[in-house]
Amino acid sequence: MRKKVILITGASGEIGQALVKSLSEIYDLPIITLDIAPVSDAAQPGVIHMQGDILDKALLSRLVSEYEIVTIYHLAALLSTRSEFTPEAAHRVNVEGTLGLLQLAAEQSEWRGEPVKFLFPSSIAAYGLPDLDTKTQYTRVREWEWNNPRTMYGCNKLYCEQLGIYYSQYYRQLAVDRPRMLDFRCLRFPGLISAFTVPSGGPSDYGPEMLHHAAQNKPYASFVREDCRIPFMAMPDVVKSLLQLTAAPREELRHSVYNVTSFSLSALEFRDWVLKYFPNGEITFQPDEKRQTIVDSWPADLDDSAAKRDWGWAPDYDVDRSFSEYLVPNIRSRYQG
Ligand SMILES: NC(=O)c1ccc[n+]([C@@H]2O[C@H](COP(=O)([O-])OP(=O)(O)OC[C@H]3O[C@@H](n4cnc5c(N)ncnc54)[C@H](O)[C@@H]3O)[C@@H](O)[C@H]2O)c1
Repeated sequence: MRKKVILITGASGEIGQALVKSLSEIYDLPIITLDIAPVSDAAQPGVIHMQGDILDKALLSRLVSEYEIVTIYHLAALLSTRSEFTPEAAHRVNVEGTLGLLQLAAEQSEWRGEPVKFLFPSSIAAYGLPDLDTKTQYTRVREWEWNNPRTMYGCNKLYCEQLGIYYSQYYRQLAVDRPRMLDFRCLRFPGLISAFTVPSGGPSDYGPEMLHHAAQNKPYASFVREDCRIPFMAMPDVVKSLLQLTAAPREELRHSVYNVTSFSLSALEFRDWVLKYFPNGEITFQPDEKRQTIVDSWPADLDDSAAKRDWGWAPDYDVDRSFSEYLVPNIRSRYQG
């Protein structure tokens, strides 16, 4: 008998680290983490780390020969900025890597006679508004609107959403017997803010970068304009949304892809929140035209009413609580000891 496990790819990353911690606290099942990078924290009980590439087919075969995978959180990806510099590599990791894991989940679902749950984090980058007038007019964008991404990362995410829907609804649709299909569930996240990991240079990182710089008394020049507005969410709500969507009864999910968000701020408003807690912070605005254009194509806010209606989504951390209870205390203790 193979041991039932939860698989988390990309577990050494920003979301992965937070998710592994929460999952190991609430579930009895062992967790297998797969990441090309080593785990950053000391080994946690019940968590087995495999260091390797999601594109390594032999590694994936070994994984399924040893374990029965019940749920997959597929977080491994090349993020936005890196994908723009190396688009073909991004396609390999983000698309071919996802395809390989969907295939693995499809085979496991068939073999178990029960669907494997496949949780996939998509992004606000899947949207692409053509210009600022349109962005001003269409503020709270719904899942099916403006799906015209202008980055490789956004294209990868949007296509992988479609692949997930294909594998969960239409896979082998011409075969004599319909296979037992996987259960694909996807969240489109806004810009994410973590108190524990330093931003890695993504287009939405100007907010968290203001905060991390001000906390260290370092000056910071925002690469977007004062009026540039996008939605954000703090890391505890990212984990909450993933766990809540995992637990939602299948029959209540009317969609495969859901927007989730917490608060929307302009860069100027973000600066004001940072200065409220770090009044000596030196934050200026020096927009970088190329990065600005990417952020301008993202919606000012996301309409997450479908998630609220279907599975009771509600963020715990609004802007006030994100700053006062999560970001500021943790960032202060990180830099000020
Ligand atoms: N952070 C955000 O703002 C944000 C927003 C929306 C969606 N997401 C998505 O959430 C997921 C996790 O994001 P994150 O912020 O934790 O990113 P991250 O870069 O911190 O983590 C990604 C992890 O994937 C691993 N990885 C990359 N290529 C790999 C490969 N070929 N094989 C195995 N592992 C590989 C990396 O080593 C890294 O640990 C990604 O899919 C990302 O696209 C993130």
